[in-house]
Amino acid sequence: MTIVVLLALSMAAAAMTMTVVAAASFSIELIHRDSPKSPFFNQSATSLDRSRAAIYRSAHEARRIAARVQRKGGIELFDAVSRVVPDSFEYLMELRVGTPPFSILAVADTGSDLIWANCVPCTKCYKQTAPYFDPRKSSSYRTLPCNSNLCKALPHGPCADVSTCEYHYAYQDGSTIDGVLATEDLTFYSSAGSRLVFSNIAFGCNSQSSGVFSSRTAGLAGLSASPVSLVSQIVPSLDKKYFSYCLVPMSDTQASSKVIFGSAGVVVGSKVTTLMTVEDSLFALRLTEIIVDGAGSVPVPTSAPGLKKGNIIIDSCTTLNYLPTGVLSSLVQQVSRVVSLPKATDPDRILPLCFKVTGEPDWQKLPFITFKFAGEASVRLSPKSMFMEDAYQVVCLAVADSGFDTPIFGNVAQQNLHVGYDLDIPAVSFASADCTKL
Ligand SMILES: *[C@@H]1O[C@H](CO)[C@@H](O)[C@H](O)[C@H]1NC(C)=O
Repeated sequence: MTIVVLLALSMAAAAMTMTVVAAASFSIELIHRDSPKSPFFNQSATSLDRSRAAIYRSAHEARRIAARVQRKGGIELFDAVSRVVPDSFEYLMELRVGTPPFSILAVADTGSDLIWANCVPCTKCYKQTAPYFDPRKSSSYRTLPCNSNLCKALPHGPCADVSTCEYHYAYQDGSTIDGVLATEDLTFYSSAGSRLVFSNIAFGCNSQSSGVFSSRTAGLAGLSASPVSLVSQIVPSLDKKYFSYCLVPMSDTQASSKVIFGSAGVVVGSKVTTLMTVEDSLFALRLTEIIVDGAGSVPVPTSAPGLKKGNIIIDSCTTLNYLPTGVLSSLVQQVSRVVSLPKATDPDRILPLCFKVTGEPDWQKLPFITFKFAGEASVRLSPKSMFMEDAYQVVCLAVADSGFDTPIFGNVAQQNLHVGYDLDIPAVSFASADCTKL
């Protein structure tokens, strides 16, 4: 692993343009909401409780993917759909913002663009247990004018005030945030303990926030492909425009998942690679067919709602897979053909195919399922990656109907896969991995 410490040169006032950038790789821990490191950890919840809650959250969270940052002054693009979904995220990450670094426990969200935190005075913000970020106490905080490129990267609207870049962000669940766009230093630590400082990172400082945010979180880290996301802003200064993650199975609450940025994250060994497109700030792939071991293949239509080139988005923050109605019904048929276990029903009616199981040996009666992406990239998924416990002695196929929304390759399917995003090609690689050891 190459680790070179960055020197952040914070020049005074207007001359805050360049940082000394050196080759670097580093990783960030993804804290699963149900792990003991998370403030949401619930000691009395069983693995079935966690699995079932994740299915329920996912059924609502998928809809949030459409939420986007919007610059103030424009037409309000989003009529907030009232949908009460408290805390419907899967992962948290710690961000260290400003000088000196101030620690913020942020929701990791691949469906969002911006990195934001509630900022002092925040008189109209949701209550949080941790203190608010105070920009006056950070020597690297600079507000951005409305004509700056980063401000222009937010969806258009005329400047209400040229000296500041105000944003309004409406989630589809009805939550909203308002604030000003600034730049800040973000500090990360390599696994060897070196300090890496990234300067002039666009950062939203909320003056207002309301809705279903949890008091136990203090901000959000947008991990989409938009120019203002954490990923897009950090990757260009690395030794390689690359990041990868490896998600430990949900049943393992002790080990941590991580995101690795730069060359140290490159997926090696026996891997498959498929081309990727960035569409509407999301990472899209082309799924050609789904093959059920011992049964037939299910072809996948080339077009999908919301996408022009790909037909499915790959998302680490949505639990379930979402497939078009026709594909899902064929998949259900194929799986039903090879599974001899008695059928059961999902009590929440989210998942269409469930079976009664009496213990571990029954899992071996469930098939491996292969997702075949363009370029003959076959990702063979074990039953543990394609089925989830949903009730006492009930397991269900972890696929729901995408209906009129964009299909999603979700995070249960990506457990114990090392998934790498090469942003230069751009392409995604997959390799089987024990994520607890990576
Ligand atoms: C913790 O989990 C138990 C068992 O599922 C549940 O009854 C309880 O409400 C949970 N507590 C919190 C604070 O979520």
